[in-house]
Amino acid sequence: MAVSKRFASRAARAINRDSFIHEWAEPGLVLFNGPSDPKPQVRVQDGRIVELDGKPEAEFDMLDRFIARYAIDVSIAPQAMALDPLAISRMLVDLQTPRREVVRILSGLTPARLVEVVNLLNVVEMMMAMQKMRARRTPSNQAHVTNRKENPALLAADAAEAVERGFSELETTVGVARYAPINALAVLIGSQTGRGTALTQCAVEEALGLKLALAGLTTYAETLSVYGTEQAFRDGDDTPWSKAFLASAYASRGIKVRFTSGSGSEALMGHSEGKSMIYLETRCLMAIKGAGSQGVQNGSISCIALPEALPGGVRGVLAENLIAALLDLEVASGNDAMASHSEIRKAAKLMLQFLPGTDFIFSGYSSMPREDNLFGGGNFDAEDLDDYNVLQRDMQVDGGVRPVREAETLQVRRQAALATQAVFRELGLPPITDQEIESAVIARSSTDMPDRDVVADLQAAEEFLQRGRSATDVIKALAQNGFGDIAEKILQIQKLRISGDYLQTSAIVLPGGRVSSAINDPNDYSGPGTGYRLSPERASEINDIPQALDPQRIGVRKADTTPPLLEEVGEAQRSGDPNEVVIAVGPAFGTVLDATLMGLPHQDVLAALIAGVEGEKMKARLVKVHSTSDCGAIGYAGAQLSGSGISIGIQSKGTTVIQRRGLNPLNNLELFPQAPNLTLDSYRVIGRNAAKYAKGEPVLPVPVQIDNMARLKYIVRTTILHLRETEQVDAEKPPHEVRMRTRAKARSSQ
Ligand code: 5AD
Ligand code: CA
Repeated sequence: MAVSKRFASRAARAINRDSFIHEWAEPGLVLFNGPSDPKPQVRVQDGRIVELDGKPEAEFDMLDRFIARYAIDVSIAPQAMALDPLAISRMLVDLQTPRREVVRILSGLTPARLVEVVNLLNVVEMMMAMQKMRARRTPSNQAHVTNRKENPALLAADAAEAVERGFSELETTVGVARYAPINALAVLIGSQTGRGTALTQCAVEEALGLKLALAGLTTYAETLSVYGTEQAFRDGDDTPWSKAFLASAYASRGIKVRFTSGSGSEALMGHSEGKSMIYLETRCLMAIKGAGSQGVQNGSISCIALPEALPGGVRGVLAENLIAALLDLEVASGNDAMASHSEIRKAAKLMLQFLPGTDFIFSGYSSMPREDNLFGGGNFDAEDLDDYNVLQRDMQVDGGVRPVREAETLQVRRQAALATQAVFRELGLPPITDQEIESAVIARSSTDMPDRDVVADLQAAEEFLQRGRSATDVIKALAQNGFGDIAEKILQIQKLRISGDYLQTSAIVLPGGRVSSAINDPNDYSGPGTGYRLSPERASEINDIPQALDPQRIGVRKADTTPPLLEEVGEAQRSGDPNEVVIAVGPAFGTVLDATLMGLPHQDVLAALIAGVEGEKMKARLVKVHSTSDCGAIGYAGAQLSGSGISIGIQSKGTTVIQRRGLNPLNNLELFPQAPNLTLDSYRVIGRNAAKYAKGEPVLPVPVQIDNMARLKYIVRTTILHLRETEQVDAEKPPHEVRMRTRAKARSSQ
């Protein structure tokens, strides 16, 4: 326990629950420059790579062999490897060098040289490079959809909401493997409800994953894992060739595939061979490219907390995303697994992918609360969606998400749950009850869902595939039960699959069944005014968060037939009565406006001030100042009229001053600049103090509360109320005496 109380309170902060270690290079706990990382080198003989990064062909391991044969363009390798690495790294951020030229040159580099080039960039340069090098011009996003109870109605409702929110891919998985077919089914139905566009996948064991996709129950695959050393690969019972074969099986049926890799996995498995995380990840990426994949999910993924424990971990993770883009691969850039206890750190990490934009900024934004995330919790989850929308709005950055209204959300959730209920009924799956529908529509998490018969569900799930059920059965069941629109959209994706339309690099399906990809929406960034820019429509979509109020309506008096609180009784004159305190109000006070910033009715505020003055056996006279909206100037004008020379100046928003004739305008006796800290009680004490000043008695200043958040909370209302007051200024009109109309009950405005 720290001796210093400040050290102790920092020690209790979330950041200090994260793990941090120093580098330990031998077992691979280092981002760059591992002790066994090779030096960049290549030798090409008769159109064939015979030496790779200092290793002769005879010593190649299976990854070297795969990379040398399939991942390096031999025709350009000698030329590209002869270039100065610094010159190449500058091409990455040089606006004059187009993306395709960078891709052409980098396709001739070896893994060690790629790492060297990227390691010459700082994070801002890496972000600039990512902005230019990602495959698709328009960024997008992927969501996770899972729940602890594996409730199909909730899965479908969450999938529908995620698509409504703009996610263009949905990834589900299972707690219990046998659930896979019905989880995939529920997410498929949800994904095509409402806005209905997203491609869907189910992360399960590879053979089952392929079966689901062939049956049309999923429409893409992502979790073809690759590792950067031979031994780590073997532990997964795999080789680059077997992965390439699997990827081809998907692609041969029109199904989009990307691989998964990421720094840290080899060290975690104890097979880093003394090589750095980013060097090994680069080997993975080249194996992925060599296998013919259009893309990759990387950014450490499930291992993220390991690189993050080390110096430069977050930078390294951006570097691996960038290397994938440099290899012309689509990148789903991580941010999917919990990366920190600290909200500050989680958001800061996200910025490295969010700001430049990637093909999929998250390779799984947890669209449900953390406890329902069967991937182990997301770096951002359902509870952070409003934050995310605000980040997009603040920075005018397209993060692939759109704000939604509750009403539309409830509607698509219900639609998806009902459609799933109908399909379950039609296909003889265990029934989804009406109670489940109702719960799924409004649920926060699966704890709000009734329990299902797990045994029956698991059995039905197994039989579902055994009976050879496929998307065709689902389409029919939907069409026959009044869900023709959802049926139509699922059919449309199957048609796209058959035509191979979403095999294009970085393909996503847009509303209307149009495919957007690196082919028809290529990233053409080459500096300001080029590349992706928010369209006016997308900008207004991002800006239109439901929390945003219409400023024109703030502070406006509700339509009302009762006359305003204050009525004028003639021009105000200087009084000779030494027992008088003038209460000078601003031009909108009790007329155009009727309440302070905090919603205290002007009527009550005046009553409190008057009560304070009268409690000291003094008289209050109400005066309206028209020529200014400035608090000091209002008080100053009041003091010139006051019999005692003492005035209270008050703006409509509630800011108050006590002034004495003879003080210059910018001086005063007491100023209460923060109206939010003033209660009716404070106004009464202000009245009392003003009276005491008038009597020449000693005065204790009015105690006011301090609220650090006051300015943050009220600056918008303050600005608008002041604007309305200033609109009422009539520079030529002298102060007028006013009186309060007697009224029953005070009203207050919005
Ligand atoms: N490298 C390779 N595969 C990974 N996965 C997660 N992180 C990594 C990584 N760093 C894989 C898991 C699983 C899926 C969720 O992603 O093995 O298949
Ligand atoms: Ca994913």
